[in-house]
Amino acid sequence: VNISPESFSPPFHFKGVRFFPAADLRAVELAESFEVRDDDVFVSAYAKSGTTWVQQIVSLLSTEGDLSEVNKVPIFVRVPWFETMDMSGTGEPLPKILKDAPSPRLMKTHLPYRLLPKDAREGKGKIIYCARNVKDVVVSWHKMREGFKFIPSGTFDENFEEFINPEQAAFGFWWDVVPEYWRHKDDNNVLFLKFEDLKREDLRGNVVKIADFLGRTLSDQRIDEVVANCTFSAMKDNDATNFSRDEAFKDQRKDGFEFMRKGKVGDWKNSLSPEQSKILDDINREKMAGVDLSFEFE
Ligand code: A3P
Repeated sequence: VNISPESFSPPFHFKGVRFFPAADLRAVELAESFEVRDDDVFVSAYAKSGTTWVQQIVSLLSTEGDLSEVNKVPIFVRVPWFETMDMSGTGEPLPKILKDAPSPRLMKTHLPYRLLPKDAREGKGKIIYCARNVKDVVVSWHKMREGFKFIPSGTFDENFEEFINPEQAAFGFWWDVVPEYWRHKDDNNVLFLKFEDLKREDLRGNVVKIADFLGRTLSDQRIDEVVANCTFSAMKDNDATNFSRDEAFKDQRKDGFEFMRKGKVGDWKNSLSPEQSKILDDINREKMAGVDLSFEFE
């Protein structure tokens, strides 16, 4: 793994979407024609919505809950971020490297649905999408921008303004991206999950749902192991999932930054002003009218 500030390109726009590090323009361009295999899995989410959580569940399912196997490789290599540059130092965009990677390929993406590989949009491979209430997303994204040196950041208020600006928002405007995935929730190759359900409702039930979707049959005991190893505290204590602790990121994080920060529903209350909360309520009311998708905010 070779992570240096020069590895990452600054934010750029592609087809109206603003991408942030570590996304790479060449990788984003290669996405459309990427040849998807039937057993490919894309873990997709708007940034800060539970991507890493689902990455860990999916990789644990692939080893039937065997954590020692999973821990041999850090999560950002095990389930690599599709639209980035290869972090092993080849300098190549990752889709080019993945072309020759053995199956099954587990990949993470923040691409809006319309920028996914054409094959995936036509039903090939599997897409697991995880959505989270927008208020917690805004806050978590700010904390990450503050925490990693390679991600440009402003003040909380500046980052908030960017978030609600369709041209400036990272990885697309939340109110475009999430409803677009939601429209595909009943596609055969899409599973749509919510962070709040995993957190509050029933983690085990959601793990079983993911296993079923991937066509994996695990014993109850194996499922218990997957669940035990993907709770917030287990992932926080695990250097292979709490990748902000990984040595490779040593020079990239500011003091005290923890990727596994709080993992809660409703932490936005500690950061958003009442005015900012109302702005988000108003945008929600306008943009989500007619979209049969709602979130728990606390
Ligand atoms: P917070 O910053 O609110 O704590 P992503 O992986 O998409 O970047 O999302 C990161 C967010 O998911 C962080 O939110 C992180 O703490 C939370 N998270 C990661 N793993 C989790 C888990 N097992 N349980 C609950 N939250 C988790």
